[in-house]
Amino acid sequence: MSKLAPSILTADFGNLAGQIAAAEEAGADYLHLDVMDGSFVPEISFGSGIVKAVRRMTELPLDVHLMVREPERHIGSFAKAGADIITVHAEACLHLHRTLSLIHEHGVQAGLAVNPLTPLDVFLQALPMLDLALVMSVNPGYGGQSFIDFTPGRLETLRSWRNELSPECIIEVDGGVNTVTAPLVASAGADLLVVGSAVYNDRGSVADNIRGLRQSLQVSA
Ligand code: DX5
Ligand code: ZN
Repeated sequence: MSKLAPSILTADFGNLAGQIAAAEEAGADYLHLDVMDGSFVPEISFGSGIVKAVRRMTELPLDVHLMVREPERHIGSFAKAGADIITVHAEACLHLHRTLSLIHEHGVQAGLAVNPLTPLDVFLQALPMLDLALVMSVNPGYGGQSFIDFTPGRLETLRSWRNELSPECIIEVDGGVNTVTAPLVASAGADLLVVGSAVYNDRGSVADNIRGLRQSLQVSA
């Protein structure tokens, strides 16, 4: 079954440790940390200092999603902060091969993300270097946006390439994943589902929300 990576973007930062513990206790598989620079995407979220603090709050693997320009300038500090996976955007890298190599040189798993209308072709060459391939299902920048409906087709294409070129690479999807869209992306090939506002919201507890997501995946399996 697909795994879940709660994103803390819409969590209560006044009680971050409690919010993360709740996800870990509810059986989250990874913790997804959205780093935004106010340039590649409009908002600024947080940097390596928060990642370092989060590292001390949880045993979960930290899946750090860099929505920043020139991410190569920051790989060292996020590696040092305790990231297990660092994902960079194809659109933000001038020398992508060098940046992915740099992530590995720091002993961290390397991920590559593409925005919704970026051609998938970059993965044909990059897949053998990747530990994670991220297909954005919203335009990055905010939590709580609506899922873009052509994403499952892109996941199916990527899955067939992944199976051939890099079978160990994890396929991740990020944006608008909820109990309705989770089964769609899971059956299209996503191994790891980022879930932000579907987990951290005012409608239910973190535990209930994660349980609901798992149920939606079971029903479809
Ligand atoms: C969007 C971020 C996402 C965000 C997902 O730019 O990359 O990880 O937290 O939030 P939801 O699940 O609410 O779309
Ligand atoms: Zn993200």
